[in-house]
Amino acid sequence: MSVPVSGRPAPPRPGASLRTRLLRGLLALSLVAFALAVTLAVANTRHNVRAELASSAALALDLVDGLLGPVPALPGDAARRAEWLDQLRELGRHRHLRLDLLAPGDSPRWPAPAEAAAPAWFAALVASEPIQFERERRDADGTPLRLLVRADPADELAEAWTDFSDFLALLAGFALLAGLLVWRLLGAALAPVRVILGGLDALAHGDYDGRLASSGVPELDRIAATVDRLAATLAAGRAENRRLAGHALTVREDERRLLARELHDELGQSLSAIQADATLIAHTATDPRHIESARAIGATTADILGSVRELIRRLHPAVLDVLGLRAALGQLLADWAVRHAPVTTRFDWDPALPERPACGIHAYRIVQEGLTNVARHAEAGHVELRLWREADALRLELADDGRGCDPAAATDGFGLHGIRERAQSFGGHATIESATGQGLRIHVRLPLDG
Ligand SMILES: Nc1ncnc2c1ncn2[C@@H]1O[C@H](COP(=O)(O)OP(=O)(O)OP(=O)(O)O)[C@@H](O)[C@H]1O
Ligand SMILES: [Mg+2]
Repeated sequence: MSVPVSGRPAPPRPGASLRTRLLRGLLALSLVAFALAVTLAVANTRHNVRAELASSAALALDLVDGLLGPVPALPGDAARRAEWLDQLRELGRHRHLRLDLLAPGDSPRWPAPAEAAAPAWFAALVASEPIQFERERRDADGTPLRLLVRADPADELAEAWTDFSDFLALLAGFALLAGLLVWRLLGAALAPVRVILGGLDALAHGDYDGRLASSGVPELDRIAATVDRLAATLAAGRAENRRLAGHALTVREDERRLLARELHDELGQSLSAIQADATLIAHTATDPRHIESARAIGATTADILGSVRELIRRLHPAVLDVLGLRAALGQLLADWAVRHAPVTTRFDWDPALPERPACGIHAYRIVQEGLTNVARHAEAGHVELRLWREADALRLELADDGRGCDPAAATDGFGLHGIRERAQSFGGHATIESATGQGLRIHVRLPLDG
């Protein structure tokens, strides 16, 4: 059973965009309208085809009476009757009407129905079978006859299909145009929302400098103005944080420098004095026990003095003040190489750089942390430190060929974070490049004058 960690509701899964949803709705509506229109059109067409066929047949029957007159008798007037029948069949030719005159016992001989130029499904929906009409007649002898009219719907179907397919094409074209129009209109209407989303995205990625353009829609402009105010507040907060962090770093470095000087001037001098006294006693005393004690005091004092010097050097690299950044870094790297043999090192210094830039202590501390990391995490075989000048900035690159890491995942410690913060609080920036198995590279840019 899973237990919710906090009372926060889970974020909703991202669904289709508003534009897509509206278009889907419009599509569904169009499909329903389309189905309704098609049903209506089919019903109308069926009705029209039947009505048309029925009226053609009725007209043909009336014409038979009006144009051909009474049916000649058989067998007395066989030739006339054959001519009469020819004229009868000629009457229907044009509208696919078939006419026939049947004596009792005769059955009609219809030609095969014409092939309609319409799809079978349409023919099935509208009028599948030929329609047949019948009228009682008698010939001149009084023999009862059946006058048959058969209406083949092929022509009507072809005409109806042409109308119907035009109508379908019109409907589909209209739906397509409406869809395109809605898509474009929604795209234009939602463009300001996308701009606002872009602005929020930039905020989420720490970019507080952009400002959102006015969209002309008052409600959205109010949201954009609020986002801009939020960005300005965050930017001011970040600037203040950096200023404070920079100030804290400066104060810390000043205090360390002061402490180093106190240790050097007070403790260092006193220890040196003790050592000198111990040496003097060792040289002047006559009692061997005193000589030995004095030597022991001298040796212990020398050890303590060595530790104090190392402490002083760590607290503040005096060489930075005395000889400058190049010498301080050179010494730092050389000492590190001695302690971590057989790792090899290389140091490149651009002579265009000033020896004592204001940012010197920050560059020094960054290299110090970088080298500590190489020793602790990298398992490297070679380390390169390169410093050069770029306009009014000092550029620094510290690279190793060790096992590297994923910089995005390396968020536990304070070292890399501190490097970035230090560079930013001094008005520069630092980036860490690395991939598993490909070493790690620290790039730093620091303004020379801070
Ligand atoms: N040169 C390097 N090679 C390989 N991995 C490194 C290197 N430098 C840092 N890392 C990885 O990045 C992580 C974060 O480094 P970071 O310096 O921020 O913290 P840390 O060294 O673990 O602790 P600390 O806060 O004492 O510095 C390390 O734990 C390590 O996994
Ligand atoms: Mg570290």
